[in-house]
Amino acid sequence: MSAPTHAPAPATAPAATPAISAADLLDFTRRIASDPELIASLPLDPEGRTWIRLDGPGGSEAWLIGWPPGTGTGWHDHAESRGAFTTARGHLTENSLAVRLPSEGWQSLSLTPDVDRTRRLGAGTGRAFGEHHVHEVLNESATEHAISVHAYYPPLPLIRRYSRTGPVLTLEQVERPADWQ
Ligand SMILES: [Fe+2]
Repeated sequence: MSAPTHAPAPATAPAATPAISAADLLDFTRRIASDPELIASLPLDPEGRTWIRLDGPGGSEAWLIGWPPGTGTGWHDHAESRGAFTTARGHLTENSLAVRLPSEGWQSLSLTPDVDRTRRLGAGTGRAFGEHHVHEVLNESATEHAISVHAYYPPLPLIRRYSRTGPVLTLEQVERPADWQ
């Protein structure tokens, strides 16, 4: 039997939006961190962090952030977003947890002793992370300002902020975009 002459056109898949990977975000932050003119455009304040919002790749959320000596973020996560950051000037320290925590249903938990990781990221050095990454970022220098580039995809729906006393991590606050724009 021959094929019908008016066979229906094959179904076409809807055009998929290309997903932005953590590696894509890291590439972006490295590229921006190596642009001296853009880095120099960030106003610096000796008293507190400063930031400029950038357009990240594929609709991702990106920020250029200035860190005076001794400033840091405190412990937080980025919910369902993956992300990356690269130091452009100075040095940053990242303390992170090598464990994926349940995102809901707990207020306080005790971490096992083997989950803490520390990275020191000098200019040109970055790192990518997946969903539910819990960390704090610090400029531990006594004298030197640091500048870094950060990107998140999907754009941050929220940030959970934690306090930490020894091994005990406690959820303190959930921040939404309206709180930091
Ligand atoms: Fe973060």
